[in-house]
Amino acid sequence: MASSSKYLLSRGLHASVRLNFQHWAIKRMIGGLIHPKIPINGLTSIADLGTGTAIWPIEVAEELKATGLEASVKGFDISSAQYPAPNLLPPNIHLDIQDAFDTFEPKYHSYFDLVQVRGFVSFTRSAAAEKLLHNVFQILKPGGYLQWIDVDPHKSHIVSSDFAQASPVLERVLQRSRRPIEGDDPVFTFLPELPNLALSQGLQCLHNDSIPTSDLDQLYLNQSLGMAFEDSVISGAKLNGGSAAVDEAEMMVNKLLSEIEAGARMHMEMFCFIAQKVES
Ligand SMILES: C[S@@+](CC[C@H](N)C(=O)[O-])C[C@H]1O[C@@H](n2cnc3c(N)ncnc32)[C@H](O)[C@@H]1O
Repeated sequence: MASSSKYLLSRGLHASVRLNFQHWAIKRMIGGLIHPKIPINGLTSIADLGTGTAIWPIEVAEELKATGLEASVKGFDISSAQYPAPNLLPPNIHLDIQDAFDTFEPKYHSYFDLVQVRGFVSFTRSAAAEKLLHNVFQILKPGGYLQWIDVDPHKSHIVSSDFAQASPVLERVLQRSRRPIEGDDPVFTFLPELPNLALSQGLQCLHNDSIPTSDLDQLYLNQSLGMAFEDSVISGAKLNGGSAAVDEAEMMVNKLLSEIEAGARMHMEMFCFIAQKVES
């Protein structure tokens, strides 16, 4: 089935290393893989939507095993390009192809104790957020949890040190991150409404807060953002233009790096939203 969302980043070696690095940076900020609001006892069936390299399911399965809990963990994505080879996966991890905005097979309805959504903001149009939350509701067991970790582009902003010059490329990256990848749907209007939207789909908010970050955390997030920017402008130029477009894209990436070196950076506002499926 055609995907209702567009994902324009590449899925090669660099992209996988970037996702794994970003995973480590987020884990560092949260202090673990699963937010403390979610009790880990009783988690037997876990899903990660848009799992990318499957680093989160792999580490969750390992961590739960180390505490004596055996959970089955499933990762879903529209592409398997970044999945590790099946022989590298522990037997309790299964990776499958599934568009998170399409209805899941009935065998997964009321199946999971915990569903994670992470890194979806850039391709989740406001009109589709409700369907995504409905799908999460449908695949959770009553009393099951949703963990949604992401960046809020509207609360993110540029921070410049006293000696930094203006940072037009960083500003452009910020403005770009506030628009969806395609379409006219202007902004991620669903983010401030997330608790109400989730409740309308039967998911009660337990926690909705920004994740505290240190300067070092922000450095790591900016490194990852820089790589994503490099990836998107250069692969976009390769796709749509000739070598002149690629040269221009490379120049832009170099300018971005100089702005960051001169002391500017994006303060990326990360949030963690935890909700629970209302028991019927
Ligand atoms: C920014 S990456 C985040 C990967 C992973 N969640 C993480 O945090 O490490 C977004 C992932 O979502 C996947 N994706 C994009 N659109 C999707 C959709 N409609 N349904 C499921 N996955 C999707 C992409 O293929 C990509 O692997």
